[in-house]
Amino acid sequence: MAILVTGGTGYIGSHTVVELLDSGYEVVIVDNFYNSKPEVLNRIQDITGKDFKFYEIDIRDQEALDKVFSENQIEAVIHFAGLKAVGESVEIPITYYHNNITGTLMLCEVMQKHGVKKIVFSSSATVYGMDNKPPYTEDMPTSATNPYGRTKLMIEEILKDIYVSDNSWGISILRYFNPIGAHASGKIGEDPNGIPNNLLPYITQVACGKREKLYVFGDDYDTNDGTGVRDYIHVVDLAQAHIKALEKILSNTGVEIYNLGTGVGYSVLDVINTFARVNQVEVPYVITDRRPGDVATSFADPSKAFKELGWKAAKNLEDMCRDSWNWQKNNPDGYSSE
Ligand code: NAD
Ligand code: WQD
Repeated sequence: MAILVTGGTGYIGSHTVVELLDSGYEVVIVDNFYNSKPEVLNRIQDITGKDFKFYEIDIRDQEALDKVFSENQIEAVIHFAGLKAVGESVEIPITYYHNNITGTLMLCEVMQKHGVKKIVFSSSATVYGMDNKPPYTEDMPTSATNPYGRTKLMIEEILKDIYVSDNSWGISILRYFNPIGAHASGKIGEDPNGIPNNLLPYITQVACGKREKLYVFGDDYDTNDGTGVRDYIHVVDLAQAHIKALEKILSNTGVEIYNLGTGVGYSVLDVINTFARVNQVEVPYVITDRRPGDVATSFADPSKAFKELGWKAAKNLEDMCRDSWNWQKNNPDGYSSE
């Protein structure tokens, strides 16, 4: 029996595949390399010393997906495949709705056909919208301010409806806060195309001289130092949470939502200062305007994941900053580095 990982060559998917292989699971990956590189497959092999299967397919190609289910004994699916850039989703909403929602519908249809009714889904803290007061709990009202966030909300609803129609499904919806860091080996990590949208990849590119300085989006928020506060979580902690969520649905039916964060918020300046201190590098920055759509503060109440999955983040901000830099230093051009 194998675990199918969609989007398994992406940032979070690749780290989760490593944890799955290290835990003894058989793994089948599907990815269309829209936002990842084939080299990651060699790196996963290198880290784990284990073999796995890979199919280069788009999850919307239902015939190809059907073949994957026919050729392998799939026990459960961890579904990462999706587009994730908030700004881009505003510019090309049809592409985002089609990729994320049609892709998930196609996947669920093939799963149903093959009697595979266990799925772990990557949702996001973005579904808490602008109006809730942190710490966010899973039962708070949800909303979205952009097409990307709406795809996550809609998919959550789709999965809940599937469970209502057939309660032999086991569904785990994981709301990630801000994943950063990289595998301790420095062999896999986040490899964004073009100018990074997110804070950590931007900082690492400034630190290594690829970009001149970081633009800090606003210092007039109602926070300790005026800059935005987020719940950063190490990607390896996040990957391990997927194993716990998987174990739970393998032996239980139901649909559950879990926050995956540390429960602690750090400001942009905290992150810059910690990164500079632990890595002994400079991170030049300037303060600029707020970024539209940003909330002042976002952090999780992660206690449900601890109570029900027995999972808790183990790594701190220093670990995250050290590992992000280790990956960037070893791979200045990401997976294209020699
Ligand atoms: P990523 O872009 O690195 O990985 C996604 C992978 O899916 C990529 O390898 C991409 O090529 C693949 N993919 C996309 N569309 C596909 C399709 N139609 N068919 C096959 N493969 C496809 O992103 P990530 O950071 O690893 O995020 C994984 C998931 O977690 C996404 O669903 C994302 O929305 C969600 N998420 C990410 C974050 C974050 O900050 N990174 C936060 C919350 C939620
Ligand atoms: C973090 C903080 C910025 C870049 C996004 C998505 C969310 C989820 C995670 C997928 C904020 C500040 C950033 C920069 C800055 N992804 N910042 N200069 O916005 O919390 O969440 O990624 O689901 O949906 O919205 O993460 O890393 O972009 O920003 O000052 O160049 O860093 O304003 O306070 P965010 P981020």
